[in-house]
Amino acid sequence: MNLESHLLEKETNVNQLLNNKNKELYKENISSTVEYILDFLNNDNFYSGISVSELKEKFSSKNKTVSNVMSMDEALIELKEIFLDHAIAFNNPSYVAHLNCPVTISSLVGDLIASAVNTAVETWDQSTSATLIEQYIIDWITERMKLPSNADGVFTSGGTQSNFMGLLLARDHYAFKYFGINIKEKGWDPVISKFRFFCSEKAHFSIKKNAALLGMGYDAVVSVATNDKFEMDSNELVLAIEKEKQNGNIPIGVVATTGTTDYGSFDPVLSISKIAKQDNMWLHVDGAYGGCFVLSELHKALFNGVQYADSITIDFHKSLFQPVCSSAFLVADKLNFRYVSHYADYLNPIETKDSEQVNLITKSIQTTRRFDALKLWFTLKVTGEKNLAGYLETVHKLAVDTYELLNDDSNFETLHSPTLSTVVFRYKAKGIEVDSINNMVNIYVKNSLFKEGKASVASTKHNNKTYLKFTLLNPNVTLSDMENVVNMIKEKAANYNKNN
Ligand SMILES: Cc1ncc(COP(=O)(O)O)c(C=O)c1O
Repeated sequence: MNLESHLLEKETNVNQLLNNKNKELYKENISSTVEYILDFLNNDNFYSGISVSELKEKFSSKNKTVSNVMSMDEALIELKEIFLDHAIAFNNPSYVAHLNCPVTISSLVGDLIASAVNTAVETWDQSTSATLIEQYIIDWITERMKLPSNADGVFTSGGTQSNFMGLLLARDHYAFKYFGINIKEKGWDPVISKFRFFCSEKAHFSIKKNAALLGMGYDAVVSVATNDKFEMDSNELVLAIEKEKQNGNIPIGVVATTGTTDYGSFDPVLSISKIAKQDNMWLHVDGAYGGCFVLSELHKALFNGVQYADSITIDFHKSLFQPVCSSAFLVADKLNFRYVSHYADYLNPIETKDSEQVNLITKSIQTTRRFDALKLWFTLKVTGEKNLAGYLETVHKLAVDTYELLNDDSNFETLHSPTLSTVVFRYKAKGIEVDSINNMVNIYVKNSLFKEGKASVASTKHNNKTYLKFTLLNPNVTLSDMENVVNMIKEKAANYNKNN
């Protein structure tokens, strides 16, 4: 069969591709889709409570073959059945588990446009003024972080990727500046095996994971003890650095966390920055969770010292009410992006390096990259920075009130007074001192509330004991909503005790 007759036989339907001839189809599809989204918002619970096996069965009964083409209406009906009716609703007051926030309507408008126009923020000839919009957001946040005028940044896929870039720049910069080693061009050198990073024992797992991905291994990251507020103990940091030096290793960087995943605790960045400076170490600040709280007047003081960071991670999809992905990696000296930059003849030839047509690709470890900055641009324009700061202050207050609620109840034990918007606590069955039993009660509570679609609460461990965790990122949730969740926890725990 020749190509022409093959195409005729297939009845190629180019009407599926968005262009000026099928605007009506686009409008129809988008407006019927909006109805399904509105319907999803009507779900009472955060989750339907369907079992894993039922959901798998529902999915596979509908998805036996990919060659089953259907109308958009049919596809939407199917999607409702297999996904929308069972998707986790982060906007629901009973969803208080992980670092997921409800999203601003303004950001969704940005997302719609970014997808339809399908801009890829790689080179000026693909992105034109999307470049300026991304740069505008980067300049805004570097200014809020009080980074020097030579600072710069780039949007990334999330905190994990931003932390990866932080470690990579730190390593390559140290190797180049102090050993004359050009890792980007020459690859590995035995001295790199002696390089050490330091972070608190409560730092995010992506620090160790990224060290491993960089070929340095978990052992390249030294965990430093925290105080009773889960903040890095700077005396312990000094001791850890000395110990590594005595072992013949080379301290090259410290990661300070501004908002640990579990406790929202802030490492003492100012004193860490002084310690790092003494040994010419890179200071990376992981503000994936807490970074956006710099907008809140109540939290500003916690950022003292962040202005001395060499690089910063900040996630707008965690705490600035943005849809996933929306995250940035910031550097104090834009020259350091040279460790990731690459010039390809077909895309951003070296001759264009200093052209007025800026190519964002030279700052990124990605090639094709979504225009994520647009969502935040809309949010800043329409929702506004003041409102966003207000949302953050509201969720912080909710966390403090919930902490007090738990403290006033003899059934609970709390671990920390909230710095941001998490509360870590534990149900303690009356008269039961055995940790393993209390661990089981708490896990039972978490699992059964989730399974029944009643509430989603997270869990974590401290000193081998299991704790429950609320992560509060929804400013529409009230203390009375939290009382409901706490009451459900007590009911479930009492149930467990009765049955065991
Ligand atoms: C402190 C911290 N850093 C980094 C990350 C990773 O961010 P992402 O999930 O956006 O990759 C998280 C995620 O929870 C975090 O809490």
